[in-house]
Amino acid sequence: MIDGERQLILSGSIHYPRSTPQMWPSLIQKSKEGGLNAIETYVFWNAHEPSRREYDFSGNLDLVRFIKTIQDQGLHAILRIGPYVCAEWNFGGFPVWLHNMPNITLRTNNEVFKNEMQNFTTLIVNMMKDEKLFASQGGPIILAQIENEYGNIMWEYGEDGKAYVNWCAELAQSYNIGVPWIMCQQDDAPEPMINTCNGFYCDQFSPNRKNSPKIWTENWSGWFKGWGDSYPHRPAEDLAFAVGRFFQYGGSLMNYYMYHGGTNFGHTSGGPYITTSYDYDAPLDEYGNLNQPKWGHLKELHEVLISVQKALLNGERRDIDYGNMMSATVYSYQGKSVCFLGNANSSNAFTVEFENTNYTVPAWSVTILPDCFTEAYNTAKVNSQTSIMVKKPNAADDAEEPSNLKWDWKNEDFEEIKYGTVVDSDLTTSELLDQKAVTNDTSDYLWYMTSIVVDEKDAFVGKNVTLQVNTSGHILHAFFNSKHIGSKLAQNGHYDFVFEQDVQLTLGTNQLSLLSATVGLPNYGANFDKRADGILGPVKLIDHSTNNTKDISSNEWIYKVGLQGQKLESYNPQKLNEAEWSSEGLPTNKMFVWYKTTFKSPLGEEPVVVNLLGLGKGEAWVNGKSIGRYWPSYISGKDGCPSVCYYNQTYKAENCRTNCGEPSMRWYHIPREFLNNEENVLVLFEEIGGTPSLVNIGTITVGKVCANAFEGSTLKLSCQGGKVFSEIKFASFGETEGTCGSFRKGRCESANSLSVIEQACLGKESCSIPVTEAFLGPTGCHSEIYRLAVEAVC
Ligand code: GAL
Repeated sequence: MIDGERQLILSGSIHYPRSTPQMWPSLIQKSKEGGLNAIETYVFWNAHEPSRREYDFSGNLDLVRFIKTIQDQGLHAILRIGPYVCAEWNFGGFPVWLHNMPNITLRTNNEVFKNEMQNFTTLIVNMMKDEKLFASQGGPIILAQIENEYGNIMWEYGEDGKAYVNWCAELAQSYNIGVPWIMCQQDDAPEPMINTCNGFYCDQFSPNRKNSPKIWTENWSGWFKGWGDSYPHRPAEDLAFAVGRFFQYGGSLMNYYMYHGGTNFGHTSGGPYITTSYDYDAPLDEYGNLNQPKWGHLKELHEVLISVQKALLNGERRDIDYGNMMSATVYSYQGKSVCFLGNANSSNAFTVEFENTNYTVPAWSVTILPDCFTEAYNTAKVNSQTSIMVKKPNAADDAEEPSNLKWDWKNEDFEEIKYGTVVDSDLTTSELLDQKAVTNDTSDYLWYMTSIVVDEKDAFVGKNVTLQVNTSGHILHAFFNSKHIGSKLAQNGHYDFVFEQDVQLTLGTNQLSLLSATVGLPNYGANFDKRADGILGPVKLIDHSTNNTKDISSNEWIYKVGLQGQKLESYNPQKLNEAEWSSEGLPTNKMFVWYKTTFKSPLGEEPVVVNLLGLGKGEAWVNGKSIGRYWPSYISGKDGCPSVCYYNQTYKAENCRTNCGEPSMRWYHIPREFLNNEENVLVLFEEIGGTPSLVNIGTITVGKVCANAFEGSTLKLSCQGGKVFSEIKFASFGETEGTCGSFRKGRCESANSLSVIEQACLGKESCSIPVTEAFLGPTGCHSEIYRLAVEAVC
């Protein structure tokens, strides 16, 4: 209820740290244009409180500015404070220092934890109150969330779990924010908390109390991607179907998770092994471009839903079941009716006679009849354009192309580590420790060093023995007596693994230096925070000829956090010591190398990306800002990408994947906000070896658009971003066959299709075409339904 009137809420998640303040107005505007009236975000505790009681709300962490940007565009906001968020975000949003506090247990009835949580949530609530951002104060925030999906794992915490939920509810209530609080996936949410639903479908969900609104906090618009994965997609038809079903069956508020996924800059991605891109196949792509046809198909759905919202929210509802998963729902309000025809059957279309008219409802689809007669929308009939995005080379006046990018390089300096002569170690103990406990997650990297002294009486001296390292991941690089003896990466989700390599112990002191690297800390599951990472041991030397074993786990271990280059800020243009870098003899396929180059900003407004193909794994910075971890050498499996995407059954990632057998991520987003007008500095830390010679800068733009619109619709074609249509490659209205890129004329077509489209669209940024015989000319086909297929170049 808003201003005394019930309002249907169509919302979308945009996470402010996954984009930049410069992007926010346009992301929100495109959300509004796409038919949303609210934006939802989590609040990211670990980003805001990186060290205890030291806060950061600057740049893309400026939460107040983000909420005000939503307000400026007249949209509502939903604030999910958590502070546990999951979100494929490092450690689920918990600061690692929190985990390292004595006597703490996270997400349960533990005083140390509750005290910290309360401190942070109070800070956020007060910050919102001070800026008058709650709806009760005239601001945009209409709902707030405490905790997140705790109900899914609560049983693991026993009685304390229940006590914790009650405490969360009381805490939330005590803030008196004047807007309702939600808890998602919490069947037993205490009054007056509203339980809400998360998932691919929520039509069968009912809230915890009869009079509570039916709220869907996360309608997964796609899915996230891990290193080594191909691209997951959720087809627009299935997403629209899920929304149609939800509102057919009494929904009040639905939020797309994500509407814009964005980018995991720095080392914010969780996992382990979540990629830097958090594109999510969301309606707005990683860079903020419209992901078509998804954006457009949903926009049309939103318009229809909003046009009938009064009846949906206030009307009398009547459901009719036809069997075979075919149903109708009628909402009657003030003498008018709105109808839904729903077909949840995976394979068959059904024709039903409804109020004396026959309607054919395709498999897995919902038809909306705003007046219970006219079909205004069907979730399986996509009339929106498909945009094919392309990468354009850097269009700066005198941009340097790949072979011309001039690279400088330097080695990561770890001589002292290799030789065991470190003077500024961070810790020495006789234990193998959880990596987080030592690094506080200030770096992905932790060195574990020890020396093994053997005298002439030692049975191991001079022998080939096996070094065995049991690690909990995620990546291990091993050096023995200053030589690299091997590396191992966790694969296929097996983060606990054993590294083995033969070594020869020499008389005297032998130096073992192990570098452990994490790639995103876990963010999900009961007690996810308790999973230890890094080299937990045992670490042993094994003489297989005699079965003799030397367990060196309790040796004296010396720890050193991070890389030397990180400490020196070798990625920061202000701190670059030119004397350290060389332009001669550029190494390739060499581990632990820093590379540096400069480039001009591409002209125009299009989003900028850097293609890191050729490199192994590491991190990239532009003008000192981390654009995230990179790993283009991680190729996804060859199989599992179907040639056609299936949408007509319960979502399964296998039904629609692309990019099999390719790097799971080769293009990395450089927000324009990170760029200077003139020269920009790109720095790479290459961990496993690769070549920068193929690296290039480019922009993302619409290359061509396709459409296959149904008769009776209005086809809107657009190039986006100021470009115009330069060529109509194909246009035919009739019984057209094929798909984008391979459309074919059918048995018959209207003779004018091509010339009419050329006239309407060529030289224009966008055009609008009524898909009718009246506009396109007679087809002479005598079919039931005609379609207009177009392929146009921008
Ligand atoms: C949900 C969680 C979200 C996100 C999503 C998957 O369970 O609440 O934060 O992790 O799964 O993308």
